[in-house]
Amino acid sequence: MKVGATEVLNSERDILDEKEYLLFEYQGNNLYFNELNLEELLKQHKTPLFVFSQKILQLQFERIYKAFTSLNSQSLKIAFSVKSNPLTEVAQTFMEKNAYFEVTSIGEVKHINALGGDPSKIIFTNIVKNVSTIEYCVDQGIGLFAIDSWSDMKRIEGVCEALEVSVNILLRVNPGIQLEDTLFSCAGRNSKIGILTPENLTMDSQFKDIFDYCVKSKWLNFQGLHAHLGSQIVNLDQYREGMRKISILITQIEEIGLKVNTLDIGGGFPIYYGEKNVPRIESFSEVIKEVFAGQLSSLDLILESGRYLTAPAGILAFEISVIKERESNLNIACVNGSFYNTIPDVIIADWQFPIKKVKYNLEVPLIKYQIVGSSNDTLDYYKGKDELDGLVLLGKIEEKEYIVFLQAGAYSISFNSTYCMEERPSVYFIHN
Ligand SMILES: Cc1ncc(COP(=O)(O)O)c(C=O)c1O
Repeated sequence: MKVGATEVLNSERDILDEKEYLLFEYQGNNLYFNELNLEELLKQHKTPLFVFSQKILQLQFERIYKAFTSLNSQSLKIAFSVKSNPLTEVAQTFMEKNAYFEVTSIGEVKHINALGGDPSKIIFTNIVKNVSTIEYCVDQGIGLFAIDSWSDMKRIEGVCEALEVSVNILLRVNPGIQLEDTLFSCAGRNSKIGILTPENLTMDSQFKDIFDYCVKSKWLNFQGLHAHLGSQIVNLDQYREGMRKISILITQIEEIGLKVNTLDIGGGFPIYYGEKNVPRIESFSEVIKEVFAGQLSSLDLILESGRYLTAPAGILAFEISVIKERESNLNIACVNGSFYNTIPDVIIADWQFPIKKVKYNLEVPLIKYQIVGSSNDTLDYYKGKDELDGLVLLGKIEEKEYIVFLQAGAYSISFNSTYCMEERPSVYFIHN
């Protein structure tokens, strides 16, 4: 990327035209989000502040649905991965869209129950499920359990036997392909996730033992396979390779006379964090169509999405508290909150959240800033991954000005902490 002022100034605006930046625009010098003038909004609220758009949540849900409905699977179920965002309004929005819910704890089950959710639309996927969790979920009539290991299966079966209730299960399989460009890959042969698919794709393996046991069990109703390969998956070739192994496994199961009714392909659909060539959701549906051709028409297809559904719908606004100039022209802009308390993925994942000034000034030259969090912790700064080595090019920033992190709606509110006994940010939700 060139850093000539005009070029970048243009791109700063242009980037808002990307499809991922739904409902953002500069009107004059002011940044609008979902038709709200952000500066006006922020002046009335305490920052740091998350602002969420219900309209974008709905649009993202519709985009996934549209991309996958053309596959003509026997049925299509879009599950919202609750861990990505714990806001009541978010789950409520998806419930109104007839969503399913992928959950990993009793807390998440209760969250959906409290909204009047249908327990049969809940898929419990955590790799470890303790007895009290299983008892609670069985009692609630949870729709599906993804079984992750031999011990997981025995523990679930034990509870079912004691309660004399049978449950529907998916076997969570790991195709054993490490997704190289994916920070959160679940699919390597040494990953802690899932039951490894047979290496040589024969049925004489650990998979076969678990499979044989579960199909014979009086308490476990085998429905099919679950395969979540990772989060923010950007390598479609490896994704295709992983899914191909799952497709072969389905064929092998059916060759021994058993029916796979359900295929849950998990989530991992990526959004734009400044990287080039992030595959679009339609590219994923094309891979699934190609790989499972001939199988889809008899499969209930489930998707579990978190990041794709929620990230674009949320922004995080900060006020600039301090500007410091260092030697070698390094300008430091310190925001009024730590990233631990607000958006820890800045530190954990180095995601390059696009950053915008709320007040855009065309006249001023661009300056490289290091954006840092307010805590004493030296890791509390924005690293990014682009050619600027984590520095951010913005027009001159004054103290008390606002900046916003875009694509901030996933895994931020769920991960942030009260480090240093600081408060978490509040949330402003724009209802549609
Ligand atoms: C089993 C399972 N399904 C779905 C998801 C959602 O992933 P993403 O937010 O990348 O769509 C996760 C996230 O870790 C997961 O573990």
